[in-house]
Parts: sequence; C-alpha cells; structure tokens
Amino acid sequence: MSKKDKLSTEPYKGVRDFYPEEQAFLNYFIATCKGAVERAGYVEYHASVLEPAELYRAKGAQNEELAGEQTYTFEDRGGRMVTLRPEMTPTVARMVAARRRELGFPLRLYSIPNVFRYERPQRGRLREHWQLNVDLFGSRSPAADAEILAVAYGVMAAFGATEEDFTIRVGSRPLLEELCRELGLDEEKAAKLRRLLDAKNKMEPAEFSAGLAELGVPEAALSPAQTPADIARMLEMLKAMGMGNVVYDPAIVRGFDYYTGLVFEVFDNHPQNNRALFGGGRYDNLTELFDSEQTPGVGFGMGDVTMRDFLEVRGLLPQYRPATKVYLAVPSPELAPQAQVLAGELRRGGVNTAVDFGEKKLADQLKVAAKHRIPYCIVVGENELSSGTFVVRNLETGAEESLERSALAQFFTNL
Ligand code: HAM
Repeated sequence: MSKKDKLSTEPYKGVRDFYPEEQAFLNYFIATCKGAVERAGYVEYHASVLEPAELYRAKGAQNEELAGEQTYTFEDRGGRMVTLRPEMTPTVARMVAARRRELGFPLRLYSIPNVFRYERPQRGRLREHWQLNVDLFGSRSPAADAEILAVAYGVMAAFGATEEDFTIRVGSRPLLEELCRELGLDEEKAAKLRRLLDAKNKMEPAEFSAGLAELGVPEAALSPAQTPADIARMLEMLKAMGMGNVVYDPAIVRGFDYYTGLVFEVFDNHPQNNRALFGGGRYDNLTELFDSEQTPGVGFGMGDVTMRDFLEVRGLLPQYRPATKVYLAVPSPELAPQAQVLAGELRRGGVNTAVDFGEKKLADQLKVAAKHRIPYCIVVGENELSSGTFVVRNLETGAEESLERSALAQFFTNL
C-alpha cells in the first residue's frame, strides 16, 4: 500500500484523542469537580449516552439548535430514532420523574458525562465534551438558587480561581417575559429577542444594537441599572454567604426553552479569554414531560474545554505526572526475569513500577523513561543484584541515593 492508501490518523472532526497527558487533565477535571460538589452534599448518578430522539423534540425540552442541526441523531436497526445526548438535563429530569415517589427531596445530584453536539468546532466549542452537571430538585426556594450559585462558585475556587478571575452574571426568565409584555412583543418577536440576547457575546456591539432596533427594543430597557427587588435580595444573600462577584445582567437568557426562573452564566474576566465559561438556571416544568406532578429543578452544566482554557491563560494547569513512579532499567535481556521479581516486590509495596525488557542500551532506556516523565529510575544490573544495593536516580534532578533492596518500596511510599 502506498502512503496515500492509508487511513488518516486524525480523530473524527471536532472530537479529541486523549493521550496520557490529556487524559490526566480530564482526570484532574473530574476529580476536582467531584471533590467540590460532593463536599456540598451532591451524589453521583449516570446514564447511557443513547436517548430516544423524542426527548429533545418534546415541547418544553427544546433548544432549537440542539433539537435540529446540533444533535447526532440516527435510526437504529429496529427503526427507532436515537440521539447521542447533547446535554444531561432532560436525562436527569426523566430519571427523577421515574422515581419521584422513592427519591427524597431536596435531591442533590451530579454527573460528569460526555455529551455530543454537531457544532462548528472553534475555541471552546467541540463536538464532544465532558460536562459537570449539578442539579438540585424539589425546592422552589430562592435559597436553592443561591445554593446552586454557591456550588458553582465553590467549583471555581476548587480549580484555584479567585473572585477577581470570574464574574457570575444573573438574569431572570420571568423578568424578561415581563419586559416583552411591557414592550408589546408577540411570541415570535420575544423568541427573536431571546436568541439575540443569547448570541450577544458572539457578535459586535453594533450588530447587537441593530438587532434590538429591528425589534423595537430600546437599549435602556436592558440596562442593569435597575436591579429588580427579588434579584437584589438574592445578591444580598450571596454577599452574606461570602460571594462578592455576582451581578445582575438582564441580557443573560440562555438558549434552552425549559428555563423558568433564575438563569446565570459564569464569565472569565481574563482579557485573553473574556467569554462565558458555563451556566445554568431554574427549570420548574421539565419533569412535566414525564409526570403529572411537577418536580422543580435548578442546576448548571460546566464543560472541560472552557475550564481548560480558563486555567491555561492563567498558568493554572497542573503539571503532568504519570501514574508510574519508577522505571527499572535492565542492562541485558537475561536479567529481565530478575528485574520482574524486584518489580513484583515494589508493586506489592504499593509502588507503581514499569520494567524495561533489556533490549536497548541503558542510556536509551533512561531516555524513554524521561520521555514518559517517569520521575525515578533504578538500574537492575548484575552488581546491584549480587550486592543487594540499588541506586535510585531522580530523572528530573539527577540526584542519586543508594538503598538496600528491602528499603526501596518505603523510599517511594514516603515521598
Ligand atoms: P449549556 O450552556 O448548553 O447548558 O452547556 C453548559 C456548558 O457546557 C457550557 O457553558 C460550556 O462550558 C459547555 N459546553 C457546551 N457546549 C459545548 C461545546 N460544544 N464544546 C465544549 N463545551 C461546551 C446545558 O447544557 C444545560 N443542560 C446545563 C444545565 C444543567 N442547566 C441546568 N442544569
């Protein structure tokens, strides 16, 4: 076969391969999210990536973009229309409705699924991402809204962000509806206004102003200057809880039809990454799709891609460390079995150990270990095996230490 007959090594458009370093970041993202939300009393659930397509077409669950061009939807062999979940909220609403009688409320749930959207790939937007979903069911109290905002804040803090790094912008669906009524907008125009507001950050200010003018909406009507009383109370409550970076922004609407109350977006304040990082809101009617009784919900979704950009522009990305602690280099293939015996001792002692097969020169073996960023190396040669003394070398600093065979495992577990 000539080279041009070969398959491409590129992944499918808009999705990523996770080599060990990328996988390590994803694991860090998952672990950090888990830590922050479990501390706030949320417990983990999960579901299949496959959902019946109708879940995203039902009235109330819709997002025009998601139900239409933006889903991966296909027919299975049994003639059923199937969708790869583009988000988790309809799924969790379905699960809550299915067991409403057994589940205790308030119910605090989280999940970190991969979700799929047929988007034009660009900075911060891919066709598959991992999304922390945090949702609180069974309460209409503003205190539940405040808790969700506090959890979002806590997640940011867990990643090392301070208040100066981000701003939480809060809007309100009912207030926006009221505004539309006051301005005499019909449902079609109101929907246009929602779409325009949702796209505000992706367009030039002049384009946005022109859009408002076309709908006959004065810009002053969207001024955050007059904060409505219930939002002002919410901001007070959040301040009392120690959150000083929450502001009212009447332009925050969010794209999904199911939001019924508070909506919010968390914005990065960094000049090179000034964009929405994640968002959420209250949705009190979504479980009605499945159940005659409503179970109110409020929550948010946060993606790994936008979080990675946030950390990267601040130099907050953690340094990659492989799980492997030590590499056993072997001067010849004949010594490989004895190196395996030593590896067994180290592993039983709790040390992640990889072993060479002794087929390359020692110097090359060390280069491979360094390439894999394994921090330590031990040469398992004749002399070391007969004397029972081994040299542990730190591959980053070059520092060496001689240790008895029986003390090796402890050396690593004490690090
Ligand atoms: P969403 O705003 O569509 O909301 O997505 C939530 C977050 O997921 C975004 O703010 C962003 O961090 C990330 N995200 C979304 N699409 C992409 C993409 N194509 N590439 C990379 N990251 C992306 C929802 O999905 C709601 N279901 C959230 C929610 C949960 N509301 C209540 N509970």
